[in-house]
Amino acid sequence: MTLDGYVGGANRTPMRISNDLDILRVHELRAASDAVLVGVGTVIADDPKLTVKWELLGRAGPQPLRVVMDPDLRTPEGALVRDARAPTLFLARTGVPARPGWSVEHVPAPNGSLDVGAALDRLGARRVKRLLVEGGPRTLRRFFEGGHVDEFTLFVAPLVLAEPTAARLFESPMDLSAGMRLASAEMLRTGLVLTWRRR
Ligand SMILES: NC(=O)c1ccc[n+]([C@@H]2O[C@H](COP(=O)([O-])OP(=O)(O)OC[C@H]3O[C@@H](n4cnc5c(N)ncnc54)[C@H](OP(=O)(O)O)[C@@H]3O)[C@@H](O)[C@H]2O)c1
Repeated sequence: MTLDGYVGGANRTPMRISNDLDILRVHELRAASDAVLVGVGTVIADDPKLTVKWELLGRAGPQPLRVVMDPDLRTPEGALVRDARAPTLFLARTGVPARPGWSVEHVPAPNGSLDVGAALDRLGARRVKRLLVEGGPRTLRRFFEGGHVDEFTLFVAPLVLAEPTAARLFESPMDLSAGMRLASAEMLRTGLVLTWRRR
């Protein structure tokens, strides 16, 4: 995020906030994960691939499962997250018709929000033990609200965006220290990496 708490550009346009070392760090995190998850808002705004760039890491390895929290299956047909580089699973609300050729698991959605605990059970059944949630903010918030975060790591870039139309990491109050402790704070060339772990 930027120093003033934004995670994207004006009007939800993609914006580079990470530096080169942070991008490497993210690929190491993906490489150490069984699955990488985002919300459909991120797929629509950024069209990410969500794969590990093993060539950046200087070694080879498998691609983690890509997972999209997409209650109504709004992911565009040509989204990069559906390319052939890695398998992709969509988590949709019960009753939403699956799309031909898409791998979809249905999850109950009491009050309209996918039950994150039930989603994690589905992923557990697929042998996903280490899940990296890459955002965006609404998805992250739902994982925090359900108490499903074991570790939270954040790169803070030396940028001030001051752009009210951009997405903020947090839009409502939260006290991280309530259930988590700050485990480390490290400089990463131009920015700072902060990591909290569950108490
Ligand atoms: N800097 C970063 O590291 C980073 C990372 C990711 C994204 N971003 C930025 O964040 C912005 C997008 O953020 P966002 O908060 O709008 O998107 P998001 O969290 O990726 O997606 C939000 C959508 O995901 C669905 N969703 C996720 N969890 C759900 C749940 N438990 N139950 C029901 N629906 C769930 C909902 O879809 P429905 O609306 O269909 O119900 C919701 O609207 C973009 O500007 C992007 O660039 C930044």
